[in-house]
Amino acid sequence: MFNLVLFGPPGSGKGTQSDKLVEKYKLVHLSTGNLLREEIAHHTPLGMEAKSFMDKGQLVPDEVVIGMVDNYFDKHKGARGFLFDGFPRTVAQARALDNLLDLKMTSISAVVALEVTEEELVKRLLNRGKTSGRSDDTNEEVIRKRYAVYLKETAPVSEHYKKVKKFESVKGEGTVEEIFNAVCKAIDKKLE
Ligand code: AP5
Repeated sequence: MFNLVLFGPPGSGKGTQSDKLVEKYKLVHLSTGNLLREEIAHHTPLGMEAKSFMDKGQLVPDEVVIGMVDNYFDKHKGARGFLFDGFPRTVAQARALDNLLDLKMTSISAVVALEVTEEELVKRLLNRGKTSGRSDDTNEEVIRKRYAVYLKETAPVSEHYKKVKKFESVKGEGTVEEIFNAVCKAIDKKLE
């Protein structure tokens, strides 16, 4: 299996690039943000719990997210690989993911991080907030909170993958196509 983590702060382009990467590398897209928004749209208890954290720009508790990922694996047993988008977001999630993949006799193949400045992220997300309907995109304070949470809780996850030499960074500013080419180059280097 080929398992890729697309890493980066909120608004760095993970979702945009994921759509192109899953097509090129024939992977199953696992976006914990999208799964949580589906739960909210269906008014499930999990969705209602998650919404209270998401609206404030905070992370949803690890055990909720890890359980959801485990269920997703069960539904995609024949996958030739996964693209993880917005997961893992804490060191505890990264360790849990290693354990879940161990059970499937596989592991993370590569982690590619998109680097974008805070000002560009805020600009992109406020702009998306005009049409997305996402409650966490409309308020600049919540967007900056998401970025602060990223720095404190998610950025340290990079060390987990640097230790095993699976981590690569690319510039996440430029055209979508330029960034896609840079991400593919980083992946292909890891695949060699
Ligand atoms: P999640 O849905 O994962 O959102 P996020 O990480 O905040 O990221 P976004 O979807 O906002 O951005 P993105 O990097 O995918 O960029 P995109 O391509 O969309 O998480 C939302 C919330 O759910 C979290 O805050 C948390 O509460 C919870 N959650 C999710 N996963 C969790 C987990 N594992 N653990 C705990 N809690 C979790 O692009 C953004 C915008 O920029 C778009 O408008 C796009 O068109 C534009 N854009 C893209 N590329 C470019 C470019 N090159 N130039 C200009 N604009 C661009």
